[in-house]
Amino acid sequence: MSNKEIVVSGIRPTGNLHLGNYFGAVKNFVKMQEAGGCFFFIADYHSLTTHPTPGDLQSNVKQVLIEYLAAGLDPDKSTLYLQSDVPETAELYLFLNMNAYLGELERVTTFKDKARKQPNNVNAGLLTYPTLMAADIIIHKAAKVPVGKDQEQNLEMTRTFARRFNHMYKTEYFPIPTAYNFGEQLVKIPGLDGSGKMGKSEGEGNAIFLNDDPKKLRKKVMRAVSDSGPTEMNQEKPEAIQNLFSLMDIVTKPEIVEQFNTQYNDCTIRYGDLKKQLAEDMINFTEPFREKIAELSSNDDYIKKVMNMGAEKARESARKTVEEVREIIGFRKYYTVQ
Ligand code: TRP
Repeated sequence: MSNKEIVVSGIRPTGNLHLGNYFGAVKNFVKMQEAGGCFFFIADYHSLTTHPTPGDLQSNVKQVLIEYLAAGLDPDKSTLYLQSDVPETAELYLFLNMNAYLGELERVTTFKDKARKQPNNVNAGLLTYPTLMAADIIIHKAAKVPVGKDQEQNLEMTRTFARRFNHMYKTEYFPIPTAYNFGEQLVKIPGLDGSGKMGKSEGEGNAIFLNDDPKKLRKKVMRAVSDSGPTEMNQEKPEAIQNLFSLMDIVTKPEIVEQFNTQYNDCTIRYGDLKKQLAEDMINFTEPFREKIAELSSNDDYIKKVMNMGAEKARESARKTVEEVREIIGFRKYYTVQ
């Protein structure tokens, strides 16, 4: 593992995976894990910054793990773990917080957004979200962090904290990690509500979840926003229609997409037919995920085994780092009861 580039990324334990998450992140994690050296974890400590008393933390986290496994993350190839199974993270977070300043933390956009959304709960955890995230990342001495655009500022903070530590203790101990953005390789996944990308916050009907049952999925697709149809030959497609075609591109045979394209261009298209086709192809596409989710859901022992295996591997890596950091700062070695 020594010369391998370490990859770390955290997953928020919020709800079920939809196609946007799958194509935007998970599919790339699955690709990256082939090279080895990957740590993927469920950020359950972080969830306390917005939900101090989360509903059912355990079952939530378990469901997220199940869906990521169903989507292709492999516990034999990557280290898959729960953040709270690695309490060493909290110690590193404490050290980093000693050199994290109010001014810079207050300027982080995600902090400002969340503070605005929950004005009665602007807690210190929310403010120091970026230091906890930095601890997650550098505890494994990561080189690369696959994250979306919205996380780039947080990652910039990680770089700052890692550099600051190195500078403060005159060391080059922490590698400075870089954000890994999939850029070109990313397919944009639109939602079903006529505009913008697929997301949960846009309402239940906007997103297609890997675990949606066929009936529900069909209903959502049939209700997707379209319009009354083209009135002139070869018209440019309005956004809502382009979105339906983009979704088709993912799941439908190219010849069939082409047929609908031709029908659009000569104004004979019937959106009901297009949606029926899209719904059936979506159902087929998501079928293997649903099956795998069902299978994993009935196998508690296996899920527990995956969690334990991940915890062990992640802790080994984390403990080594925190022991070395303690030594660099000048604390004595961990005291262990014989
Ligand atoms: N902040 C990330 C998000 O909202 C989740 C996260 C927590 C994370 N710790 C991380 C991502 C470490 C990458 C690396 O999606």
